[in-house]
Amino acid sequence: MRDRIVEIGARDWHAPGSDPAWIAAVEDGKVLYFPQLAFALSGGETALLKPDLLAPGVRNISWDAQRGLKGAAGEGPVQEQVTALVSRFAAQATALVNALFPAYAQHLRPAPTSLRPTSVSNRQQSVRADDRRLHVDAFPSRPNRGERILRVFANINPHGEARVWRVGEPFGDVARQFVPRAKPYSAWQAKALNTLGVTKSLRSEYDHLMLQIHDRMKADEAYQRDCPQLRFEFPPGSAWVCFSDQTVHAAMSGQYMMEQTFHLPVGKQYNPDASPLAILGRLAGHPIT
Ligand code: SIN
Ligand code: FE
Repeated sequence: MRDRIVEIGARDWHAPGSDPAWIAAVEDGKVLYFPQLAFALSGGETALLKPDLLAPGVRNISWDAQRGLKGAAGEGPVQEQVTALVSRFAAQATALVNALFPAYAQHLRPAPTSLRPTSVSNRQQSVRADDRRLHVDAFPSRPNRGERILRVFANINPHGEARVWRVGEPFGDVARQFVPRAKPYSAWQAKALNTLGVTKSLRSEYDHLMLQIHDRMKADEAYQRDCPQLRFEFPPGSAWVCFSDQTVHAAMSGQYMMEQTFHLPVGKQYNPDASPLAILGRLAGHPIT
């Protein structure tokens, strides 16, 4: 299992180097781990990292260039400082993925950047929403028809606390176990969900299978306990990158993390045959969308 995490010695977000082996690894669902790639904070920024940075009732602080900052408490100067910090992370994460995966560069669509100041282990939620259970990312209301979810994470905990993940087995192995148990896709049901506004667009067979895998693996206590898995600590000052729709992962503990998601059309991978869409199509025995 240790080979599911590939360690890279880069220290510079703009010049991490590049290596075809890293590209093959990330497209195989492995985690690229950068133990020395710190997202640097000024002293003033570190002082902001307190639970009361979060506006009441929200879980994450998010930012994008169009809509600005959301979810941070505090007056104008604090808002400006947090905006500077989060937008700087967006720029560095973008530089990193562009350098690591040059062929993606023109095709990546960034999602809002987030700062997550809440502690993982304190969250109380339903089995389906519990990201302390191993899962691949798949979202009930947001069908994506196979579009990839590439994520850059950085632990910025100011108290020395690691972000602890479990990382599971390769996607193909998981899919082989859970696809045979999946409910069959129903086109009329997908239409109904869309008409009712449960989904933001039509749920495809791909989206259906991904949700089935997500839900069934989270609900399977024996699988959670006994499947091949690796517990891994990402210390403060480290960063990591993975396709979270393919890497089986669970967040066990930690607090204060930066996260940047990029969406990538599946056809723009170096090896589209390695994608969850292609793997699920092969298992289903027909092309899926
Ligand atoms: C997740 O994507 O499941 C959570 C990642 C994290 O909070 O570390
Ligand atoms: Fe997740």
